[in-house]
Amino acid sequence: VEKTTIDYFEVIARSVAHELRTSLTTIKSGIEGVKDYIPLLIEAYQTAASHGLAVPEIKTQHLNMLMKALDFSEKAAFCTSSYVNMLVTNMTKINPELLTFETCSINECLKETIKQFPYKSEEQENLIVNSSNIEKDFLFKGNKHLIINLLLNLLKNALYHIQDAAKGKITIWTETTDTHNFLYIKDTGKGINPAEINLIFNPFYGAQQNNIGMGLYFCKELMHALQGDITCTSDEGIYCQFTLSFPLLSTC
Ligand SMILES: Nc1ncnc2c1ncn2[C@@H]1O[C@H](COP(=O)(O)OP(=O)(O)OP(=O)(O)O)[C@@H](O)[C@H]1O
Ligand SMILES: [Mg+2]
Repeated sequence: VEKTTIDYFEVIARSVAHELRTSLTTIKSGIEGVKDYIPLLIEAYQTAASHGLAVPEIKTQHLNMLMKALDFSEKAAFCTSSYVNMLVTNMTKINPELLTFETCSINECLKETIKQFPYKSEEQENLIVNSSNIEKDFLFKGNKHLIINLLLNLLKNALYHIQDAAKGKITIWTETTDTHNFLYIKDTGKGINPAEINLIFNPFYGAQQNNIGMGLYFCKELMHALQGDITCTSDEGIYCQFTLSFPLLSTC
């Protein structure tokens, strides 16, 4: 794919994101405002009804749903915001010369990713086996915001393919050797067909699921910009494992 195609998509993504963000901000503040008053209004309604005032009937079940409906709407707005942010970051070209590098802790990036991820349910959140802490932290030179976006992409893929396979969990761990620090993210979901494994890092690969297919391309571009790499090994139907390698801090 020529760079110009990606440039073109970046412009579209930015403009769609701008429109969506504006609407989402309105939706979010609307929900927040209503949430502030709903409990009071429910209480007032119940008081009125219990005093025999001529209020129209609202079933208790429906009354109980009001707050939940707002919570669901809020969650949906949050998920949409996250996906829009991920999409725009994935579509934005990484220019290593413009990247500001700082010393980051992989553990901190992971913790923030796990906190920020727009999970569909609590069960989904619990699919990450050791989410609270990876045993051995390491430091790397990079950009925290972009690494979190990379990790969000890997989690999104893993959770999608776990759901698709109706089985699996996610394990995350690190390793340090004489030359590199490694981060491993393994899911035991659907796995990848051997014929496909060399294609998954290509831009726009994966369009079969109504996705853009830019997630792993972004991951590869970012790891290269950090003088590292990302690779994938898989056994179809068994597991899919991503290995991220970071140069040691002393060699940066
Ligand atoms: N954890 C995984 N398990 C199985 N297949 C995967 C996994 N991660 C990625 N893939 C395969 O690699 C393809 C490319 O992934 P990538 O993240 O680049 O694109 P996408 O998820 O299809 O779209 P986008 O990330 O832009 O929304 C996916 O469509 C899927 O076929
Ligand atoms: Mg993806």
